[in-house]
Amino acid sequence: MNRILIIGGTGSIGRLVATRMAELGHRPRVLTRDPAHAQLSLPAAVELTAGSLADPTALRTAVQGIDAVVMTHGAPYGSDDYAAVDYGAVPAVLDALDGHRVPVVLMSSIGVTATGGPSRELLDWKRRGERLLRASGLPHTIVRPGWFDAGNGPLQRVDLRQGDRIEYGPVRRDHVAETIVQALLTESATGRTVEVFSVDGPAVTDWPGAFRAAEPDRPGDLDGARDRPGPHLRTEPERVRADLRHLAPTLPDTEI
Ligand SMILES: NC(=O)c1ccc[n+]([C@@H]2O[C@H](COP(=O)([O-])OP(=O)(O)OC[C@H]3O[C@@H](n4cnc5c(N)ncnc54)[C@H](OP(=O)(O)O)[C@@H]3O)[C@@H](O)[C@H]2O)c1
Repeated sequence: MNRILIIGGTGSIGRLVATRMAELGHRPRVLTRDPAHAQLSLPAAVELTAGSLADPTALRTAVQGIDAVVMTHGAPYGSDDYAAVDYGAVPAVLDALDGHRVPVVLMSSIGVTATGGPSRELLDWKRRGERLLRASGLPHTIVRPGWFDAGNGPLQRVDLRQGDRIEYGPVRRDHVAETIVQALLTESATGRTVEVFSVDGPAVTDWPGAFRAAEPDRPGDLDGARDRPGPHLRTEPERVRADLRHLAPTLPDTEI
């Protein structure tokens, strides 16, 4: 039985992850700014820890005794908080972990490696979070969902892809959550970046095989295994470079 910290565990995906982990006998712990509200939508077996990502003390409390971290957080669409929340959660959690090596499953998004488009700022910050997590050297799985508009309809099969080549593809929220849960439970998910969609076909039963079919991220590489190369770090915001110097000590200074 593992204690799993879920950042974003009150959200539309995170609450499915927390509920499923509790059903499987694990001990999910959810960080939330509003525990009174959170307890209305989460089972009693889910532990709540109060705080914001902007509060290092709350985060240090939240990571006490944990065996894994799931990150499904996100700032409201159209807000000014992508740098602080969508990206900022990653350095904040790594900082709170203070070298404690636990697996981290990060939910990001399809489209992070593309250019242009109306969500560019959000997606660029999400990509920076992905890159920092890979560079940290912690065991990671990065899950990039398609668009959350497949309802719970007839698409039964989770389809894992790589390379971020699909500009649009629907996914069921429960499929995103199940992929994250399986990433926590499946050794072959470690060190991989996958996109997740819902398609026609029989449900996945061989999760180790599904993750094994994905190419692992190359150790030391900031980008996912089949991604287009990302921007050079010298063109990135100083905040991102400072986080890399602090939280990715094996990355050569010459690259930052
Ligand atoms: N919509 C799509 O089609 C689509 C596709 C791919 C990816 N995504 C990504 O999915 C994410 C949204 O997922 P969702 O729908 O599950 O989330 P959501 O329902 O919008 O919930 C957001 C979560 O983030 C947490 N959060 C936000 N700011 C926080 C802060 N300062 N400190 C601590 N926690 C904070 C919230 O916690 P509390 O409020 O409890 O504190 C809540 O649990 C977005 O980032 C989006 O980019 C969406």
